Amino acid sequence: MIHHSLLAMSWMLPEQASSYAPEVDHLYEFLVGTTIFFCVLIFAAILFFFVKYRRRSSDEIPRPIAGSMVLESAWTIIPFIISLFMFAWGAKIYLQEYTIPNDALDIYVVGKQWMWKFQHPEGQREINELHLPVGRKIRFIMATEDVIHSFFIPAFRMKEDIVPGPNRYTTVWAEPTMTGQFHIFCAEYCGTSHSGMIGWVTVMNDRDYQNWLSGGAAEGSMADRGASLFQQLGCITCHRSDAQGQCPRLEGIYGKEQLMSDGQKVVADDSYIRESVLSPLAKIVAGYQPIMPSFQGQVSEEQIQELIAYIKSIGPPETTNATPGTMKGSTKISAPGSNPAAKPPIMTTGGATIVAPQTEKAQPAQLPQQTPGQNQ
Ligand code: CUA
Repeated sequence: MIHHSLLAMSWMLPEQASSYAPEVDHLYEFLVGTTIFFCVLIFAAILFFFVKYRRRSSDEIPRPIAGSMVLESAWTIIPFIISLFMFAWGAKIYLQEYTIPNDALDIYVVGKQWMWKFQHPEGQREINELHLPVGRKIRFIMATEDVIHSFFIPAFRMKEDIVPGPNRYTTVWAEPTMTGQFHIFCAEYCGTSHSGMIGWVTVMNDRDYQNWLSGGAAEGSMADRGASLFQQLGCITCHRSDAQGQCPRLEGIYGKEQLMSDGQKVVADDSYIRESVLSPLAKIVAGYQPIMPSFQGQVSEEQIQELIAYIKSIGPPETTNATPGTMKGSTKISAPGSNPAAKPPIMTTGGATIVAPQTEKAQPAQLPQQTPGQNQ
């Protein structure tokens, strides 16, 4: 119904470098086109009436007008339909942009005064530069270390505020459709050097991306680094993989629903894990005591993301018999003995936990999900 060719604004917009960019532009063109159309119509009518109904003599008295039902209905109903159409179109794009695909590649983003920090699951870290493969859906998992920032890649038509707070990751996705270099901006005023909080995203073909990936990450994958942190910070002394600790086991929880002490059920996703690290008392897993200290100020946002990558790597859901840790980019961690933090995982079979006999005494009160008698 609209002739994009007449209204095409590509000459004044950045390249369309993501899968949904063309549709965003079409909506934008429609909005601008509609605005121009009514603007011209209204100003033309004003000028026309201005001349046609001008006062011709000083004693002229205009004929009274009682109104026109047809005219008033028309100028109510037509704009109503047009604005509903705009709403429906916008909502469709919104849902598309905010429904994260399952098969997306995760990129962790941290905004900080005044830089963008990126982590790839394979371990690469970048500042103000981001390398991405073309034709892959990318999920950006974003947090801020201080104030509100807004992650903006104009060529992707993607802009998302990153809001501080312990229980919040912001996610958004995009699929780059062309190789090249594109601007990254911060689109929320965040202090003195806000305008310097910029960078480049480099979209590469898959082979170049794989080459690039294999070039770095001397410190191992994100999950590897998370595993060392898990040990350094002492998490491992309490969250023990043998279910003898005083804290919930973390194997296999990622992405699964957990029962809280108040009866609430929470999916153990990135935001939940981040909240548990920063304000552990916010949600207590049923059957456990609120004894965990906050790690606020002790771990950086990137370290939290590494811890999450580690937890993700120890026992993905739905693969109870597979070797845990087979998640992309975390293979090193799954090799038993390769990393002291990653103890050989416990096998779970149909919900029952098989635990190696332990010398320490068991604490059945804190093991709510165990079958009675299972522990011995
Ligand atoms: Cu960060 Cu503006």
